[in-house]
Amino acid sequence: MNATARVIRGRVLSFTGDPAESGSRAYSLIENGAVLVNGGLIEAVGEAPDILARAPSGAVIDDQTGCLITSGLIDAHVHYPQTQVIGSYGAQLLDWLHNYTFVEEQKFADPAHCARVADFFLDELFRSGTTTAMVYCTVHPSSVEAFFTAAEARGARMIAGKVMMDRDAPTALMDTAERGYDESKALIERWRGRGRLDYAITPRFAVTSTQAQLDAAGALAREFPQLYVQTHANENKAEIARVAALFPEARSYIDVYEKAGLTGPRSVFGHCIHLQDSEVAALAKSQSVAAFCPTSNLFLGSGLFDQARLARAGVRIALATDVGGGTSYSMLRTAAEGYKVLQLKGQSWPALDAFYRMTLGNARALSLDDRIGSIEPGKEADLIVLDPRATPALAHRMERAGGNIEVELFAFLTLGDDRAVRQTYVAGEPCKDARSVA
Ligand code: GUN
Ligand code: ZN
Repeated sequence: MNATARVIRGRVLSFTGDPAESGSRAYSLIENGAVLVNGGLIEAVGEAPDILARAPSGAVIDDQTGCLITSGLIDAHVHYPQTQVIGSYGAQLLDWLHNYTFVEEQKFADPAHCARVADFFLDELFRSGTTTAMVYCTVHPSSVEAFFTAAEARGARMIAGKVMMDRDAPTALMDTAERGYDESKALIERWRGRGRLDYAITPRFAVTSTQAQLDAAGALAREFPQLYVQTHANENKAEIARVAALFPEARSYIDVYEKAGLTGPRSVFGHCIHLQDSEVAALAKSQSVAAFCPTSNLFLGSGLFDQARLARAGVRIALATDVGGGTSYSMLRTAAEGYKVLQLKGQSWPALDAFYRMTLGNARALSLDDRIGSIEPGKEADLIVLDPRATPALAHRMERAGGNIEVELFAFLTLGDDRAVRQTYVAGEPCKDARSVA
């Protein structure tokens, strides 16, 4: 962690709870605020004069007056090998996987390609204000090595894992139940808990894993109960029909994962669009997390996520880009599309709730809220600075916000993207400007 002390001055917004539960008591806003960061951690937050007075001599002062400082954004489901799959035309999930994604992922047999794309991906996340992500690599262990190496060099908090696939994919992209287990275990032993990194056991989905491989993934989850599990579920109707045909004994798609021991509080299921009531109940009971991936769900024509239904049932929900099915690295854009999806479902999603979800909400979904997600002393100094005048359209709209934080946040969502992110601090260090352009 970096040792530079730094004061970042601006309007400081931080969540203490879920606005859907506690309204305006769920956040604090310090208009003339500042954050003191030191050694990669937040040391103090408060009124600017107080923070400036207590900053050590020699502290760097970043004057971001007029801008909004929030926690770094968190992306709960994203594929780093799909940066060159984004915008692949005209297919729904299963064809899109076979025609585009599996073709691209084969390139990750080359460690040099892995390293180049990992660098590009992390630069792009930081440019967009995302400081933590839960990331799919490919089936190749070298893809995981490259990703963790790049994340470690940047001091970023990242979760990632090797994709496990032992059927219904090109031969070059398949492991076996045993090899998937062995390679995952070796990567776990090498990377988990190293610096700010953690590992997610990653069976891609029930279509491309046999029962034996899902059982092997479940065995890993039992051996390492603190590890994450990530997979896909109930995204697309043809996919669901395929899972029903492949697992005739199972009562449902989620039941396949439950029987393999893959549900639980550290399990994140991408999409969860077309769920039966019994599946909603199983996700809630196991405290599993459903990842809402609006740009991907729209782009692949998968369907509309029913947030109100899941929230009512007590399912934990996260928000995610799902690049490259998803079409933007920006969590602001992702939340804006999420808002539109929920409009189509007749559901509301206030901007405060969306900002909570991108920060503390996703930190809670990933059981990381003791470290990231809010601006409090002792937490890791992952912060972003949002500029209300970043573009002419934003500046023009903000003229009518009247100092109302909810209106401003909604304008950031609706009109904002990477351009609205003036600075991104990872472990207290500014890193908005791309280090490498691949
Ligand atoms: N289901 C299985 N693999 C994938 C993937 O890479 N992207 C999406 N959107 N869904 C999947
Ligand atoms: Zn995905």
